[in-house]
Amino acid sequence: MTKLVYVLNGPNLNMLGIREPGIYGGKTLAQIGEDCAAEAARLGLGVEFRQSNHEGTLVDWIQEAGAKAKGLVINPGAYGHTSIALHDAIRAVQPLPVAEVHLSNIHAREEFRHKTMIAPVATGMICGFGPLGYVLALQALAARI
Ligand code: DQA
Repeated sequence: MTKLVYVLNGPNLNMLGIREPGIYGGKTLAQIGEDCAAEAARLGLGVEFRQSNHEGTLVDWIQEAGAKAKGLVINPGAYGHTSIALHDAIRAVQPLPVAEVHLSNIHAREEFRHKTMIAPVATGMICGFGPLGYVLALQALAARI
């Protein structure tokens, strides 16, 4: 059976392509989803790609990933800096391998973006490589699964 990986995207990432292109680039989230589908196929993985602006929905989907998937890529958006609920949800699905992704280099930006609630409970974190980060995260998970 194909091993499934969830790729979850948090708030405002549906605005990619329009939103601050100087920081986030010109690709839309749909295009990033296509990149993920192509890379997952190359790696022999199935992919479930989703976005929500709602913290509780992301918690539901992390729990779902814990039940159905072999790995999780998450760009939590701003909730990554604030959400104990996402932190706890990821703890609750351990030992599921989890890759945190940020398009931008959060450490080179405002101080409030330097802290991530996800990194301490993730397997690893990739930031600053734009959409390529999602592809790298899938490769990293494939090596673990
Ligand atoms: C982001 C970085 C976050 O600080 C920001 O709130 C986002 C996008 C990124 O992908 O670079 O929404 O997660």
